[in-house]
Amino acid sequence: MSKIIIGTDTSFDDTSIGIIKVTDSVEVLADVRFTQMTDSLKFGGVVPEIAARIHLDQIEIILKKALKLANITMADIDYYAATVGPGLIGGVIIGSNFMKTLAKVNHKPFIPIHHIEGHISVANDSKLNLDTDLSLIISGGHSMIINNKTYQIICNTADDSAGELFDKIGRMMDLPFPAGPHVEKLALQGTNSIKPIKITPGELKFSFSGLKTKCLDLLKKEKKEDVCYFLQQSVVDHINEKIKLSMEKTGSQSISICGGVAANQFIRNNLDPRYNYKFPDPKLCTDNGVMIAIAAAFRLEKKLGIDSYIEEFSYQSLADFMKTL
Ligand code: KG4
Ligand code: ZN
Repeated sequence: MSKIIIGTDTSFDDTSIGIIKVTDSVEVLADVRFTQMTDSLKFGGVVPEIAARIHLDQIEIILKKALKLANITMADIDYYAATVGPGLIGGVIIGSNFMKTLAKVNHKPFIPIHHIEGHISVANDSKLNLDTDLSLIISGGHSMIINNKTYQIICNTADDSAGELFDKIGRMMDLPFPAGPHVEKLALQGTNSIKPIKITPGELKFSFSGLKTKCLDLLKKEKKEDVCYFLQQSVVDHINEKIKLSMEKTGSQSISICGGVAANQFIRNNLDPRYNYKFPDPKLCTDNGVMIAIAAAFRLEKKLGIDSYIEEFSYQSLADFMKTL
């Protein structure tokens, strides 16, 4: 029997709603997003209070657009899902309570989703379980490798996230925010003239702040296209080494590459060929509502945390969150 699931993510600067139809595979009926990019640009980043107000202004508009695109009415929706954390708490509360209320009013179950759960759920072949042993999440908020069964963190960042690194270097070059895709474009015109650096070799932790300092220094004397190339090469070398250490530690062979930075084609194309990878559709790498609806479909399979009205949070690990369901 088919089910229709609606999911929302308002944890950062995108107000997004996705609607999916689940049979034994997943069909995306609507993927609508309002990006606050132009508002964030004025401030060089996201201001939490302003972001929350824009989510509040936009969410109902986005819902109407999504229903129209999916060609359904509220009565057709079987399950409501939302990111309940982690993220900027003002925005999280708006999206989550919007969906909780709609679920209550329409007498349908609400499924609370962890933002990371959403990211890792979209790197599959439309099946309703994870295809890989591990997941790497490289986004604006996170850089970590987790075990797909226990959700334990195997490798975490000691400082910045990979996305923050791209955004901060981009800002130094006056690129629009978020800078990742613009850095990727500039790097296409760059060369490998600057030797990549090794960061924390042998240690099971990500660290991107040293690379940021190095890039800032290089920008004073080198072509920005070459610095962008150097940045991507150093990032992918760093990721490859941490994947290798995580594979060795856990005896794994396969990993999903998820989160906004996973949209980067240079990174995708230069991963260590010894391992098996799954990638989301690049459209589903950055924050979106579809990934939240798909994570809810996985939960329905596992019969876990359905109709659970737990409170929103700004930070909680995925493993700890799962224990609360
Ligand atoms: O997953 P996401 O949408 O938001 C968080 O959950 O944080 O990731 C956003 C991050 C931003 O830092 C953005 O610059 C980066 O993903 N990003 C990229 C690319 N597309 C987005 N970084 C590198 N290359 C890209 N093509
Ligand atoms: Zn995200």
